[in-house]
Amino acid sequence: MKSYEIRHLYLDFFKEKGHSVVPGSGLIPFDDPTLLFTSAGMVQFKKFWATDTPLSYPRATTCQKCLRAGGKDSDIDKIGITGRHHTFFEMLGNFSFGDYFKKEAIEWAWEFVLEHLKIPAGYIWVSYYEKDDETKEIWKKFLPVERIVPLSDKDNFWGPAGETGVCGPCTELYIDTGIKKGCSSGCRPGCECGRFLEFWNLVFPQYDKQTDGTLLPLKRRGVDTGMGLERITRIMQNAPSNYETDLFLPIIKKIEDISGCSYDKDEKKKPSFRITADHIRAAVFLIDENVLPSNEGRGYVLRRIIRRAEMAGADLDIKEPFLH
Ligand code: GLY
Repeated sequence: MKSYEIRHLYLDFFKEKGHSVVPGSGLIPFDDPTLLFTSAGMVQFKKFWATDTPLSYPRATTCQKCLRAGGKDSDIDKIGITGRHHTFFEMLGNFSFGDYFKKEAIEWAWEFVLEHLKIPAGYIWVSYYEKDDETKEIWKKFLPVERIVPLSDKDNFWGPAGETGVCGPCTELYIDTGIKKGCSSGCRPGCECGRFLEFWNLVFPQYDKQTDGTLLPLKRRGVDTGMGLERITRIMQNAPSNYETDLFLPIIKKIEDISGCSYDKDEKKKPSFRITADHIRAAVFLIDENVLPSNEGRGYVLRRIIRRAEMAGADLDIKEPFLH
């Protein structure tokens, strides 16, 4: 299945379930001084949970451009190393603002994964917040209890995006990529070895985190999910990492043409290919929103991204400027 087909399948599925299909917002958050960049699908909706003013829709679904390259949510140091992290990526999401809650969010996630993506149930594991028994009970309808794993707030309490605001317990869906990929026979979701690939996070926003760390109840509780398009595409295309998918292979091919290096034949050069391919996407989408390289703020993040991509290019023996 092509990546664009997955985008459409997701948005159409949630439209059928009564969600408004809303355009993703820009990478520069509108009217939100707490964030450098849009780091999740929920960013444009933060106020919907925090106020009780009437809304034009109680459910929404989006495909959101995200950037995790500066501030608390930055993944920049993992790029190229893991094969599953990005600075720029797309997040598919469904949202409820004081409308449906855990039961529907989990049942629809299960329905989408099994009946529409057609991933066999035997490959799926989930994690949940260790104090959230309600979520565990819902998952027990679908999965044996050994594949429902409790994790602490470090893994299964999401948010806020930035330092303050909307947050809550979450439950994550993982695909088991096979015992041979694991670090030990006891390896489970939560382990960083890479055997279990997390691809969908279902968050249940319930709290508004204050600057002093206090968690106040939100005016509207709800649902905020995030499925990484690059990760689900990797799963659907049975690729060894996010980079061997239709979202990245054309860029990697172009880097091969420019550098004369081979992505498949030279394992040691793979991280440099991946960094370049990841960072060029981030740079293009930032420049598209009028961010230009500079010495501070967003412009500095862009400068750092371009500098790192140039350095990765140098590792691929590229001697001339090439990112343009
Ligand atoms: N807001 C859900 C996520 O970023 O995973």
